[in-house]
Amino acid sequence: MAEDKMSDDKNSQSALIGQLREHFQSKNAPRIKAVLAQLCDELLQNVGKPKLEEAAVVVEMLIEEYSTRPRMLASLANLKFTKYNLSIHSVNVMTLTLCFCLYVKYHPQAAKTMGVAAILHDVGKTQIDPNILNCDRRLTDEEFEMFKTHTVLGANMLRKSDFKENILPMVALEHHEKLDGSGYPNGIHNVSMAGQIIGLADSFEEMTINGRPYRKVIDPFDSLSILRRETEAGKYSKTLFRRFAYSIAD
Ligand SMILES: [Fe+2]
Ligand SMILES: [Fe+2]
Repeated sequence: MAEDKMSDDKNSQSALIGQLREHFQSKNAPRIKAVLAQLCDELLQNVGKPKLEEAAVVVEMLIEEYSTRPRMLASLANLKFTKYNLSIHSVNVMTLTLCFCLYVKYHPQAAKTMGVAAILHDVGKTQIDPNILNCDRRLTDEEFEMFKTHTVLGANMLRKSDFKENILPMVALEHHEKLDGSGYPNGIHNVSMAGQIIGLADSFEEMTINGRPYRKVIDPFDSLSILRRETEAGKYSKTLFRRFAYSIAD
């Protein structure tokens, strides 16, 4: 029965949240990250179900735990597992985004919304052919066009969900847009602040963590140099880039 499934999901979410609390106390970073990945996995598979509200609870817990030491969140992103998938990517982008928000002293409520938006920025990828997502070579032009639709698909999913924050579909739609109009899906110039921040965290994560057989992982320093050049070329806001770099730098 669908209702049974929903209460099972809720139970497993509560159990995971309980585990997260325990791992916070023992400061066990790999376990914290593993539980976050499990929670993200459930959220990404169930957008639109009531339990999406629990994403906000998890992000709130992270804000409380790390508000005085936001860089620990960036180091959590840097903690690598042998497995890499959409959930781990979403956790990484969320922790980098929260690190930025706490560093620039966003109001906790705004930081919470940004954290949830970061978890769900790529939810549209759940609708994309896994052969395209997990492809170990460069995508053909046609495949890349399909891949790009994860932005529009994600925004549509989030507009239909029970989560009434406009920022969520906006971030799903805009996180690959660039200020010089070179991004996708619409090539807009007026990218929202939330879209820019999560876009920056996403690009940094892609370079430093998400290695592919055809593309090597780049170390954080070199990744920031690349992003600085892209900022000088007009793709990102200079102020935003500078703050992002400071937020994650040791
Ligand atoms: Fe994306
Ligand atoms: Fe992403």
